[in-house]
Amino acid sequence: MSPVSEEALRRAFELLSEEIRRCTLCPLAASRTHAVVYRGSLRPRLVFVGEAPGRAEDLAGQPFVGRSGRLLDRAIDQLGSGLGAYGVLNVLKCRPPENRFDPHAARTCRPYLDRQLGLLRPSALVPLGTKALAALEPGAPAILEVAGRPRRFADRWGFPLIHPAAALRSTRLHRRWDQDVQALGSWLRRGALETL
Ligand code: URA
Repeated sequence: MSPVSEEALRRAFELLSEEIRRCTLCPLAASRTHAVVYRGSLRPRLVFVGEAPGRAEDLAGQPFVGRSGRLLDRAIDQLGSGLGAYGVLNVLKCRPPENRFDPHAARTCRPYLDRQLGLLRPSALVPLGTKALAALEPGAPAILEVAGRPRRFADRWGFPLIHPAAALRSTRLHRRWDQDVQALGSWLRRGALETL
């Protein structure tokens, strides 16, 4: 694919973002405050993929700005310069009532994720938790079996992690989160993204 100029990319991504913000294709549109599109670089090496906005994200219109987001941002700080440019988004763009992930809405929403990734063209994806992993790899094993190791998806590499909300719920899973973030850091320091 030919390289896209910064300005053309910015415009195409903004048009897509506006389409997502105005979307009424599924019932979640009726209960949202804001659709939650993306935060990060338009030329990310790595994109973190969450499940769906929670209450804080719905109010702010930004992904991962609540408690889970603070843990994710700490991990991003720890990864430091080895991470480089990155982005954060969700499979579902609107908050599901009671934060219950809605597979039907996820199917309707899916083309937005594919179009975002088509423009951003990251080298690798980091699905956060079971639902994000399943969206990238239908039929994938349980997240605890595969988190903390690189994994091949259909069209790119990934490095699944457990969801930060799970890490906040138990000491055991917090330890697992810390270990897996360290493993992601080692993978990046070994130059994994340069060789994909
Ligand atoms: N959990 C997610 O999966 N995504 C968010 O944006 C916030 C919490």
